[in-house]
Amino acid sequence: MQYELINIKTLHTEKEGQLSYFEANRSISFDIKRIYYITQVPAGARRGAHAHKKLVQLLFCPYGNVTVILKNGMDEEHVVLDQPSKGLILHPGLWRDILWNIDNSVLCVAVSDYYDENDYIRDYDDYLSYTKGRGN
Ligand code: TYD
Repeated sequence: MQYELINIKTLHTEKEGQLSYFEANRSISFDIKRIYYITQVPAGARRGAHAHKKLVQLLFCPYGNVTVILKNGMDEEHVVLDQPSKGLILHPGLWRDILWNIDNSVLCVAVSDYYDENDYIRDYDDYLSYTKGRGN
């Protein structure tokens, strides 16, 4: 599947917490044009339910625990983001559902382009036709 797990550099201190960082075009292979984050989600809620045609995304969860459920039209894989140092890069063409395992988990996303609703596939049947059309 077209995703990568990356280790986000994290500097830990005994008494003053920790600091995590990544740099566009160095730690990750794409330029960042937009950052968004999702907050105040109750445990058990699901978001996502879409795929992107061109967008590349880095997902990370600095607080809490979410499960990213990935599908490519054939297989399904689950990735748990439960540490600030865990990063998940999603390449275009993957269907994702995101499940909140803990109240108020914060999901942050750094992405390769500006918001464009035309880049979304929001219907799962349309997605399956799209993957078949691409020969996935
Ligand atoms: P969406 O990407 O569908 O979020 P999720 O998959 O977590 O539910 O976006 C939800 C709504 O927010 C949708 O109406 C589009 C809008 N939106 C923007 O206007 N700009 C953005 O950068 C993002 C990510 C979403």
